[in-house]
Amino acid sequence: MMDVSRHPNIELITYAQVENIAGFIGNFTATIRKKTKYVDEKECTACGDCVKVCPVLVPDEFQQGFSSRRAIYIPFPQAVPSSYLIDMDNCLGTNPIACGKCKPACEKKCIDYDSRDEIITIDVGAVVVATGLKPYDPRPLDEYGYTRYENVITSIEFERLNAAGGPTQGHFIRPSDRKEPGSVGFIQCVGSRSKVRGHGYCSNICCMNTIKDSLLLQEHYPGIETSVFYLDIRAFGKGFEELYRKSREQGTKYIRGLPGEIREHHETNNLVLTVENTTTGKIELHEFDMIVLSVGVEPDKDSDKIKSMLSLSRTPDGFFLESHPRLKPVEVPTRGVFMAGFAEGPKDIKDSVCQAGAAASKVSNLLGAGKVRIEAVTSSIDEDLCTMCGRCVRVCPYNAITKSNKKANILPGIIEAACAGCGACGVECDYGAITMRHFTDAQYYSQVEAVLADKPGEKIVVFACNWCSYAGGDLAGTSRMSYPSSPHLIRTMCSARVNMDFVKHALKLGAPIVVVSGCHFSDCHYIDAVKNTQKRVEKLWDELEDLGIRPERVQLEWISAAEGAKFARVMKELELLRKQVTPKEIEETKRILIEAEKKKRGKKAAKKTVST
Ligand code: FES
Repeated sequence: MMDVSRHPNIELITYAQVENIAGFIGNFTATIRKKTKYVDEKECTACGDCVKVCPVLVPDEFQQGFSSRRAIYIPFPQAVPSSYLIDMDNCLGTNPIACGKCKPACEKKCIDYDSRDEIITIDVGAVVVATGLKPYDPRPLDEYGYTRYENVITSIEFERLNAAGGPTQGHFIRPSDRKEPGSVGFIQCVGSRSKVRGHGYCSNICCMNTIKDSLLLQEHYPGIETSVFYLDIRAFGKGFEELYRKSREQGTKYIRGLPGEIREHHETNNLVLTVENTTTGKIELHEFDMIVLSVGVEPDKDSDKIKSMLSLSRTPDGFFLESHPRLKPVEVPTRGVFMAGFAEGPKDIKDSVCQAGAAASKVSNLLGAGKVRIEAVTSSIDEDLCTMCGRCVRVCPYNAITKSNKKANILPGIIEAACAGCGACGVECDYGAITMRHFTDAQYYSQVEAVLADKPGEKIVVFACNWCSYAGGDLAGTSRMSYPSSPHLIRTMCSARVNMDFVKHALKLGAPIVVVSGCHFSDCHYIDAVKNTQKRVEKLWDELEDLGIRPERVQLEWISAAEGAKFARVMKELELLRKQVTPKEIEETKRILIEAEKKKRGKKAAKKTVST
């Protein structure tokens, strides 16, 4: 942190909050609230004279409440810059009658009670999201008695009790009687790997953290009894298995099973834990002086705001979704935005450092190049056809279309650097004013016609998104999975590019079944463009039903790139469905749709006549 603050090319803005980020790759504008510290950080020498006179004592958050701090304080010992700030929520008041003692005590005159937050804007070319983590709060797991028993602590609290700079100067004592514990139990997966008791995912760091803690105790307090209650020990990194072995060799017992309950002995304050040992299949009772809950981690609560600011997607776990889990692990679908650390998912320090390095080099490549190479697949607007209705602006997941202004006769415009080419805007435009380069409407109509030129009744038309369903089909093929020959795939970049008119066109040409297939909701490579697909297909189902056409003739399927087997299975099921569609039904569908289209055209023409 010190190096960062001294680097000539890095401006470190601390005690600040990003209020907004607007713009696109190479041209972001960040609005930042610099919170006031009420102390001039440039002048403050951290002499501590102000602290000596402050009468307020509140629990110190950094020390997990094991010690207290004053209302004027340095948040943690390694804070950069090392200057004081006033916690105004707890300060008695700047009025000299109420308090105001710190100001006259400051020789450098760097305290200003009247200072206010400052809003600054900075232009940046790229953004790295490193929002960090939040430890799981074990209070809902009442069976562990975290709120009732002083000697049940979390792994974070354990760190403070063992830190040389902690409230006990690194002397490990139990909170109830301040005595050195003779036995310590660790419970793993608290808040992890269970959807009903926290989160379904593995928090990745807790096993190694506990192994490290057990070694620490064994080394500092020879003879201490340490036991770990676990589901599986996940020691998969370099040197991790060796540490695990060392911990066992030094005497830590590893008991497979998660405790069901902790009770406190009312006289000794010792803790008795009940566990089903899944290795022996027996219910066991274990007594400890202290118990450490190895708590999992969760995404930072601010991630909601960041998500909407940067048009990011999240996995069902709440972590930000990368562009590609293997090939683009630090990139997100919004160009110019990268991720590092826990923002993307639980990971240890080493992986976080690797990812941060990768994000930094991506940024430096981007900014060093001075220009951006974009995909050729982007949208363009025909100014003569655009009616400035604004629907395209609303569906663009990248905010890549500038707003129109009818009064000022300003047309919407495509920011090419921000457009990712999903095609959602083109489908939304009823006036045909938006063209998707290389994936035009005319090309799709031609493809549909080519597929159905011969024996259409034996074909299934499948619109498959490039990133998931098309790749799922590829996987089924390369894995030599068999499926019927009736499906004919038409590739779209995103399923949101599928205009329902393409689907109706296929039905009009005699297709018995038409499938629109895309990524699962959280996997869409164009943020949340896929939600438009669902809406449009659902609308089409209603329309078909009203017309007397079976809606199941149009299917909507979510198939990922890894689901080759699902692709093959779905195609087999669809083949059965295709066989149920009779030639008579196909002909009737054609007739109904052609008639409906005629009516629609007639209505449009009448409307035009009235308006002229
Ligand atoms: Fe596959 Fe959007 S990219 S549905």
